[in-house]
Amino acid sequence: MPTLGVNIDHIATIRQARRTVEPDPVAAAVLAELAGADGITVHLREDRRHIQDRDVKLLRQTVRTHLNLEMAATDEMIKIALEIQPDYVTLVPERREEVTTEGGLNIAEQSDRMGYVVTTLQAAGIPVSLFVDADSQQIHASAATSAQFVELHTGRYADAKTETARVSELQMLKQGCQQAIAAGLRVNAGHGLTYWNTHAVACLDGMEELNIGHTIVSRAALVGLERAVREMKQVIRGEF
Ligand code: PXP
Repeated sequence: MPTLGVNIDHIATIRQARRTVEPDPVAAAVLAELAGADGITVHLREDRRHIQDRDVKLLRQTVRTHLNLEMAATDEMIKIALEIQPDYVTLVPERREEVTTEGGLNIAEQSDRMGYVVTTLQAAGIPVSLFVDADSQQIHASAATSAQFVELHTGRYADAKTETARVSELQMLKQGCQQAIAAGLRVNAGHGLTYWNTHAVACLDGMEELNIGHTIVSRAALVGLERAVREMKQVIRGEF
């Protein structure tokens, strides 16, 4: 069975909505690890809309499992990764106007640049994963960069509106997984996975790690709400 990398960006999103200090993603990472998370994933975006530089620096000191830094393949991010030394980097496409990462990287179209970024990070001892669609051209282009991993984009599978479409997207992920392994890559997956659609992806042969964020933070907000309200009532009564 694959391991679970918990993406805590959405904790930071709540904090940044008020530009305050809570909830702290560093505390969230500790709790996620106590609950059994196998890794912590954060995406340091160019516009710093959720995770901040301070978070990544502190997480590097506090994470006890492994820290996966998702980032765009820009010079600024390469410099930060070389300083922070995450346990691995996942390169993702990034456009300022998108709400979340849409679509995988087009490695085939920018193979020279990707090859350069992958080898620069690897030369500093940082393994690299490339976030790509389950597409044979992208998978073979990824293998050609010498990256150790691909992370297969599960967004289309997660967004499938009918059972037929879902089964077809799952089949593409299965094929992508097999092609990647045959090309010498290790395979992770993520994006849009929920409590309802994750198990089928977890069962794909060779799948190593699932990076999951939004659904976990969404559930945490709901399952934690009753307790939080009860505790505020206690504060009002001076009992807390
Ligand atoms: N993997 C990658 C590369 C991502 O960009 C994201 C979203 O930040 C995730 C996994 C997690 O996606 P979600 O929050 O939908 O679980």
